[in-house]
Amino acid sequence: MADNELSKRDFGCPIMRFGIVGGGQLAKMMAMEGSKLGFSIAVLDPAPDSPAGRIADRQVVGGYYDGEKLKELVAGCEVTTYDIEHIDVVELKKLEAAGSVIHPSPGILEVIQDKLQQKEVLVAAGLPVPPFRRMDTPDAQLMRDFGFPLVQKARRGGYDGRGVFVLRGEEQIAEAFQGESMVESLVEIEKELAVMVACGADGEVRSYPVVEMVFDSESNLLDLLIVPARICEELAERARDLAERTAKAFTGLRGVLGVEMFLTRSGEILINEVAPRPHNSGHYTIEACVTSQYEQHLRGVGGLPLGSTELLVPAVMVNLLGAPEAFGEPRVLGLEEAMAIEGATIHIYGKEEVRPKRKMGHAVIVDHDIDRALEKARRLKDVLKISGRRKG
Ligand SMILES: Nc1ncnc2c1ncn2[C@@H]1O[C@H](COP(=O)(O)OP(=O)(O)OP(=O)(O)O)[C@@H](O)[C@H]1O
Ligand SMILES: [Mg+2]
Repeated sequence: MADNELSKRDFGCPIMRFGIVGGGQLAKMMAMEGSKLGFSIAVLDPAPDSPAGRIADRQVVGGYYDGEKLKELVAGCEVTTYDIEHIDVVELKKLEAAGSVIHPSPGILEVIQDKLQQKEVLVAAGLPVPPFRRMDTPDAQLMRDFGFPLVQKARRGGYDGRGVFVLRGEEQIAEAFQGESMVESLVEIEKELAVMVACGADGEVRSYPVVEMVFDSESNLLDLLIVPARICEELAERARDLAERTAKAFTGLRGVLGVEMFLTRSGEILINEVAPRPHNSGHYTIEACVTSQYEQHLRGVGGLPLGSTELLVPAVMVNLLGAPEAFGEPRVLGLEEAMAIEGATIHIYGKEEVRPKRKMGHAVIVDHDIDRALEKARRLKDVLKISGRRKG
């Protein structure tokens, strides 16, 4: 849509009706940010009290692969999007073909759902990725030829490091998991980086600042995240340029795209993977940027002008995970102490049940001094714990 067409539109109230497949924390924050703009939000989630369902205008209770429920969601909305990739893309393609507006388009999602096809798109666009090869079933010869150490990745269905397995040498060949996968060279990682990219209706692409992701070596989950990343300006520019080119490789993409990257020990930047939705690494944008990734996503998928991606203040983000052995009804310990930390904003998602390492909330600490922000974030992690109380 051309700019002059955008400026001619007028809007009723609600301004626009959005549907979101998925009712987790990302959908919740989309609903929160969207309500500022007078948007109406409907979500589809199997849990009647999903984090987003509690605050959305409407919730359709049903699974992400339930064709009838997807149809019901989409029918009541002008634009439908999602907060999770593992959803019924075949059904969404049918709804799109029948005239419903769905972004990012189900065709793009279908490619991204498959880590192998996703990487092939990046390679075709000339973007740097680690060497990889398709492996339909565990194949000792293929792995030997490819070389160790390698990373075996499930083509579909993985998240939070599930479906990613490191094989250090030949002696581990028998441990390779079954199913369609790909093998990838194990990168010597200096830092993991992420950049959110916003894509508008007219092909406009805007990147957010580079985020440095610090992983917990044991759980492989994100431990904390720092923005701006502690890298030189030249590398930051390169990372943003690569992220924007990555978004452009998915022609017609709308909304935000999370681009995960590796900075290697030799100073290369390689693309690891993408997510066509708001991303954990972009939580900080609510407190630290002019336009949050959540508002930006709705702007992009809704065909509205994109907002500024400028960073107003440095930030550190920590995920608040379920404590080891925490099950049942969540109990938030140390909340008042955490809230007293200057510059901290705490998000508790409102999930009904806690499990060990489940993402239950997050906190963002803004501070003009990044080292002080880091120190506060570590303190916050020490005092705030999410445990559980078994029901009955
Ligand atoms: N080729 C590689 N070399 C070294 N480490 C890797 C490689 N691929 C993945 N990893 C490590 O494993 C983590 C998870 O991998 P990846 O992001 O592909 O999986 P995921 O489960 O889909 O992701 P997420 O945790 O983002 O949901 C990466 O963040 C990185 O730490
Ligand atoms: Mg990842």
